[in-house]
Amino acid sequence: MTTIAVIPGDGIGPEVVEQALDTVEALGLDLDFERFDHVNAETFLSEGTALSDADFDRIRKTDGVLLGAVGDARLTHTDYARSVLLRLRFDLDLYVNYRPAKLLNDRLSPLRDETRRAIDCVVVRENTEGLYAGVGGVLRPETPYEMTMDAEINTHHGVSRIIDYAFSIARRSVCMVDKSNAVRFGGRLWQRHWREAADRHPHLETSHLYVDAAVMKLVEDPTRYDVIVANNSHGDILSDLTSQLAGGLGTSISANINGDTGFGLYEPVHGTAPDIAGQGVANPIGAILSAALMLERLGHAEQAGAVRRAVDEVIEAGRTTPDLGGTLGTRDVGAAIRAAL
Ligand code: NAD
Ligand code: IPM
Ligand code: MN
Repeated sequence: MTTIAVIPGDGIGPEVVEQALDTVEALGLDLDFERFDHVNAETFLSEGTALSDADFDRIRKTDGVLLGAVGDARLTHTDYARSVLLRLRFDLDLYVNYRPAKLLNDRLSPLRDETRRAIDCVVVRENTEGLYAGVGGVLRPETPYEMTMDAEINTHHGVSRIIDYAFSIARRSVCMVDKSNAVRFGGRLWQRHWREAADRHPHLETSHLYVDAAVMKLVEDPTRYDVIVANNSHGDILSDLTSQLAGGLGTSISANINGDTGFGLYEPVHGTAPDIAGQGVANPIGAILSAALMLERLGHAEQAGAVRRAVDEVIEAGRTTPDLGGTLGTRDVGAAIRAAL
């Protein structure tokens, strides 16, 4: 029996996870779901912690995690995300943040030029280091002399394994994105590993871009890119851009993977969308396709393919939520996808 830990989270998280679960259940696979409904901002606010050590131990023993989104306007500091999402990424060593972006339907591209719409790339984001590591501090807080420091951590281990992973999944090419013209030491470390890895893969096309130029070039012609590898914060930003170029944040998927064991936490790229939460209009496709990616990686490629085809059909028919130009609600889109299955 395969056990999946389910963390719906906050805002639209529970709304879209419900549709993902109903869709997976409709496939009739031998899966067991262990729900962690209490892992949310409400629990964090009332108890000071949302994901307990006991929860963490149970999650570690499952075969994979499906997460909606976490975040709440009342929690402006990083402690909450750090104790749930970032804790899972860091403590389970899910060092690859795999964020594919493939245009789902020509109609959904924001780009004018037809020849430049067919984006089909993957952002491989380093997921355990960089500015997210939480190393730093504050001196003289809340005084006019306040000094804060957030260190960007780049290790030989972390940088080499993410670059190697990027090469391992490339079909045509790998583009490394950094800011090594401004960031002194980490920049050099990434550049060195990048050149060494490129030399080991002469059959793949390689290129390098500074992150500022990369966002410009991605909008100019996203069809040029296959795998893009970047550090944690650059990968975060680049993957919202590639998401939108591929049809919208509501459709984008991700897997947080330990490249050695294959353990994964699957989640849509989007957040809790407080502006539309509770209205029943959130697009469930990102969560549904993230679940399909999970199924594929757990050995159910055929069923994952069927879900993807059902999603394509529903989009083609215009049976979508308002973000994709339709008039349906979250549940209607989920039901339409299941009907197409
Ligand atoms: P967001 O992704 O929640 O929303 C950005 C915009 O996209 C909003 O206008 C929203 O309505 C729209 N959108 C997002 N998902 C959508 C969907 N499924 N259907 C239709 N429209 C959708 O980003 P934000 O507003 O910057 O962040 C809101 C909260 O979510 C914050 O607390 C943030 O920290 C958190 N967040 C969590 C995750 C995560 O858990 N992985 C990811 C991103 C942001
Ligand atoms: C994401 C989110 C998170 C991140 C936030 C919620 C900490 O934006 O998954 O992309 O920056 O990694
Ligand atoms: Mn993000």
